This record gives sequence, structure tokens and C-alpha cells, in this order.
Amino acid sequence: MPQNRQQTMKRVDDFRLKFGKQEFVPIMTGGMGVDISTAELALVAARLGGIGHISDAMVPTVSDRRFKTGFVKEKQKKYKYNVASRDKSPVKFDLERIAEATKLHVGRTMEAKRGDGMVFVNTMEKLTMGNPRDTLRARLTAALDAGIDGVTLSAGLHLGSMALMEDHPRFRDAKIGIIVSSLRALILFLRKSARLDRLPDYVIVEGPLAGGHLGFGLDWAQYDLKTIVDEVILYLRQESLDIPVIAAGGIFTGTDAVEFLESGSAAVQLATRFTVARECGLPENVQQEYFRANESDIEVNLISPTGYPMRMLKSSPAIGSDIRPNCEAYGYLLDGSGNCAYIEAYNRELDKHPDGEKFSVMDKTCLCTHMRNFDCWTCGHYTYRLKDTTHRLADGSYQLLSAEHIFRDYQFSTDHQILLPPEQVLLPSE
Ligand SMILES: Cc1cc2nc3c(=O)[nH]c(=O)nc-3n(C[C@H](O)[C@H](O)[C@H](O)COP(=O)(O)O)c2cc1C
Repeated sequence: MPQNRQQTMKRVDDFRLKFGKQEFVPIMTGGMGVDISTAELALVAARLGGIGHISDAMVPTVSDRRFKTGFVKEKQKKYKYNVASRDKSPVKFDLERIAEATKLHVGRTMEAKRGDGMVFVNTMEKLTMGNPRDTLRARLTAALDAGIDGVTLSAGLHLGSMALMEDHPRFRDAKIGIIVSSLRALILFLRKSARLDRLPDYVIVEGPLAGGHLGFGLDWAQYDLKTIVDEVILYLRQESLDIPVIAAGGIFTGTDAVEFLESGSAAVQLATRFTVARECGLPENVQQEYFRANESDIEVNLISPTGYPMRMLKSSPAIGSDIRPNCEAYGYLLDGSGNCAYIEAYNRELDKHPDGEKFSVMDKTCLCTHMRNFDCWTCGHYTYRLKDTTHRLADGSYQLLSAEHIFRDYQFSTDHQILLPPEQVLLPSE
């Protein structure tokens, strides 16, 4: 058999991700905020021997939905007096409440974990929450307290974040990893955390085809994941640093994954294909939008107030919305001085429309409100291929998949094949 053919016949299951003596199926499901990668989704990955991520983005909001707590209402009530004010600097999170919400979300997930895999939490550092350092520390330490297996530091990687956990008793036993999109970012992080005498346990290299926020500019198409992963692997080898590298972004088939595993990646992180799993948090009508999408329906734009480009469906209701900033209830993107780029954009448009008529804010969006309501349809580049992973049903809709089916397809498929699920037959009443 020719060499190439032999390679494509390998399966992801022929490889293992190793952390010391522990071994895992080398599949991680990505952390998709806000509660797109639900506990249910992460728990399937862990049950099947891989690693599932939950996300702590907007965790009080997620806790309210999951456990009927009242964190958002409480905060909204406290700051009700400020709703009409343009100055959002008085709006602050109560650190104890953040810790409580995180402990509930993480703790309940860990209690439900079965199987040999692990559950990690994706912690987006760009959620500055009006007090970047203290709120991040509260989220990180609460997740460790609640028994999370690992913490992935993401979006907006703050070079000092490892240090925020250094006094925690689990600092050296929990896995801690980072997401980078360039070798340069990795080197900066390693330099900064050198004094802690603790390397990250894994490095996720996220390329330009990923969903959510991107670590690239609008010139993202000029980069490719393979090149960056190869650079990172080479650098770590040269420095004799034994840190598993996990490739992410645009890995759509098991064979795509095998290609990374063969060339030195320790695992792959996957998200897009799981967005159409029943266990995923997206409402089904949004999942159908993802299925229907064509390549031309997807764009990378700059409407996120974080300043990072974000990939999404052009039909996202978040684009052009004129919703009033809802910082008293949410406020996750407020910086330390109470600013958010959406507030500025909104007020500018409001001043242009004093007569109260409807308007559009095109350059920024209220990401908190729209992510909370699943109205910002962020997605990976290959979302337009999701329709090829399932059946179209008699009513024109697409059949949702189980997370287990998707996971197993990645684990065992060869030759770029994608196994379709058993076809669901619609009954006349459905
Ligand atoms: C809908 C969606 C939401 C995402 N949200 C986040 C997020 O909140 N934080 C993050 O670090 N990565 C996020 N990502 C990136 C994924 O975790 C993952 O690294 C990447 O999308 C993998 O590429 P793939 O989607 O092509 O499989 C998101 C991805 C998708 C598809």
C-alpha cells in the first residue's frame, strides 16, 4: 500500500493523549460560550474517554438557566438606578456571587462525570467584568475548588493568569493549559510564567478557521493551522519542553485529525461538528440555521466589543441590532473603568436619532445580551459542511446528531469519510 494511503487508513483511536501516566482518547471538545458547550456535551466526551470543555463565560447567567438561581436578577435590582445612565463604572460584580455561580456550574458537572475522561473549563480572559484581575481570580479559584480537572486559559490570554492561581492548593495538580494562535504568543506566555516553575500542561494551537473569537486579524485567510502547529512543535522540541500540543480549527474529519496526530500533535480540539449535537446548548432553530448555511453566509467581522475578530453567520440577529446596553444585568465586557465599545457605538447612534425611531448599530454589538439569547450565531469556517454530516428529513429540516455519534465518527473513521446517523423517520404528527 502506498505510504499516503496507509496514513489515511489510520484512525484517531490509534493514538493517545498522555498526561504523565494517564492516557486519553486524543479528542477534546472545545469550550463554547455562552453555554453552547453544555455540561451534557462535555460529559459525553469525558464518558467516551476524551476531554470535554465547559465554558465559564457569563457563568451567573448560565447558572440561572441551569439551576434556577437568581444571580442576574439580584445584580439587575442592585443597579436598577443606573439603567438610564451612560456611565457604567458603578456596575460591579460581587466576587462571592461569581464564586458561588462557578462552583455550582463546575461542581454539578464534576459530580455527574462518569468514565475515564476529564472535564476542563474554558476561561475567557477577555471577560473583564468591570474588574479584570479579581473577577478572573474568583472564577479560576472557584473552578479549582469545585474539582475541575483542568483549566484552559483562552481569548485575550493574560500573561499573568497562571500567577492568579499560584496560591491555590490544586495549582500543581489540576491541568492548566493555554490557547494561542502563534508561536510568538506562546513564547511570551512561557517567559512570563517562568518564575512560577510550572509549565502549562498543554498548549492548544487554534488556527484561523475556528469559531468564536479569533487570534488573527482580518487577514486570517493568510494563515494556516498546520504551519503554526509545526512551528510550535519544533520550538518546544528545540527547547526540550515536553508539552502536549493540541491542534484546533477546521479539523472536520477523523482523517484531518489523524494528519495532525501523525505529525506530532498530541490531540485535537473540535467544536463546529458538535454544534449540531442534541446535547449542544444552541436552540434547535439556530442549529438548523447552521445546517442550512453556505460558505457565502459566513463572515469574520469586528462587531465584538472585545476588539477581536469573530466568525459568525451573516444572518445573526446580533448584527445591526440597536438593543440598549444591558450592563446592569450582564456587564461581562466592561473594562476596569466601566467602558465597553458597544456602549460608545450605541450612544453615538442614539444621539443621531433623538426622535426615538429605530436604528442600527453596525460596528459593534451588545455581545452579552446576544450571546445570552443565542442571537449571535458564531460558528466555525466549515459550518457550511455540516449538512454533509446528516440526513435531510422529509419536512426539509436536518436531523440532529448525538454527541456520541460525532465523537465516535472522529475516533474511528478513515479516508475522510463521515458516518451518517441512522435515519430518523418523521411520523405524520411530528
Ligand atoms: C459556536 C462556537 C463557539 C465558540 N466559543 C468559544 C469560546 O467561547 N471560547 C473559546 O476559547 N473558543 C471558542 N470556540 C472555539 C472552539 O473552542 C475551538 O477551538 C474551535 O472552534 C475548533 O475548530 P472547529 O470549530 O473547526 O472544530 C468556539 C467555537 C464555536 C464553533
